[in-house]
Amino acid sequence: MTVPRTEPLAVGLIGLGNVALAHLEGYRQLTEIRVVAGADPRAERTTEMAARFGFRGYLDYQEMLERERLDLVSVLSTVATHPAAVIAAARRRLPVLCEKPLALTLADADLMIAACRSAGVPLFYAASYRFLEPVVKARELIQAGAIGEVRLLLETMIGTTGPSGYHDMGPHHYPPGGPGGSGNGLMDHGIHLVDVFGWLIGSEVESATGAGQISGEAPRPEHLTIRFRSGAVGHLIYDDATWPADLPAEGAFSWAPTWDEVAAGQGIGRGGIWQQHPGSIRVHGTLGSLRIFHYANQLFLRTARGIEQIRVADRPMPAQFAAELASFAASIRAGGPAAVPGEVGRAALATVLAAYSR
Ligand SMILES: NC(=O)c1ccc[n+]([C@@H]2O[C@H](COP(=O)([O-])OP(=O)(O)OC[C@H]3O[C@@H](n4cnc5c(N)ncnc54)[C@H](O)[C@@H]3O)[C@@H](O)[C@H]2O)c1
Repeated sequence: MTVPRTEPLAVGLIGLGNVALAHLEGYRQLTEIRVVAGADPRAERTTEMAARFGFRGYLDYQEMLERERLDLVSVLSTVATHPAAVIAAARRRLPVLCEKPLALTLADADLMIAACRSAGVPLFYAASYRFLEPVVKARELIQAGAIGEVRLLLETMIGTTGPSGYHDMGPHHYPPGGPGGSGNGLMDHGIHLVDVFGWLIGSEVESATGAGQISGEAPRPEHLTIRFRSGAVGHLIYDDATWPADLPAEGAFSWAPTWDEVAAGQGIGRGGIWQQHPGSIRVHGTLGSLRIFHYANQLFLRTARGIEQIRVADRPMPAQFAAELASFAASIRAGGPAAVPGEVGRAALATVLAAYSR
């Protein structure tokens, strides 16, 4: 496919829910891609989003694909709809980006990858954590040997207000009886970390074991332990149906909007919103450690010299989406492979699914 170099690429969005708002903010920061159309079966939402962001709205993505002259497609719909939407875009020979999780089964992930390969179009996996500034900077430090050999990578997301604070993503995203749970749980959120842990240390997963939430069942604690080929261990623990034990001072690091604020159209752009429990990733090495406040755009390095705050580019959440979409556009223009291809999403899914094997 030849794309004129001066024209912005025309993208069509499939799914206009919460994450679409973050993507639309990302597109607003770019000149190389223009959102021309979006499709979602929710009529009121589609009308409102189309008017607000100035694109043509459709209730059926097949109709959008048929009528619009698109250069690429972005799949932002409920998880269960990803395989059909990606395959529909591939059949029209359109490069396609797909939000995480790529699919719910490895068989579906394989069909999506095969459809794009046989159509000769790239499949981009939306690994947005790879585009968060503190994560990018942490990777540079690790690769430069700043904390020696990495032995442990940890993330915990524990606690709301007990069972009443737990919100299941629901059957539209995760059909009952299979992997699912809350938006802060292993399947929907942990899948970011499963990918980013290996990316930070440049190592592949050797084995994984754990226990994940089954969609539609009563909430329970979730965990996953990953052993990497390098010998490092990654550990994830999640439970949205209990109370947090963080100290209030932890929130002092937060500049980031919460997902609820992003979804409500608030907190977009520069931070400034106090968040009590900012997410963080801990990386422990033989010469030091890193604390990555990925959404608060802060990074700390601890070594024998003491604790140092590392400067990161002033691009707080949700700027990672602009960076991700810019990389998407650059590889389409260059006619090259996707920076983060579908195979990355398949590998992350394979690791997470270890927590559901009975
Ligand atoms: N990268 C990130 O940080 C991040 C953050 C949030 C969500 N996500 C991912 O984005 C995806 C969407 O999540 P969300 O939070 O926006 O969910 P959401 O429930 O807010 O929105 C999903 C939208 O998809 C629409 N939809 C359902 N079937 C459709 C179809 N056949 N065609 C078109 N649209 C359809 C729904 O009507 C809804 O508007 C999920 O895969 C989720 O895991 C990624």
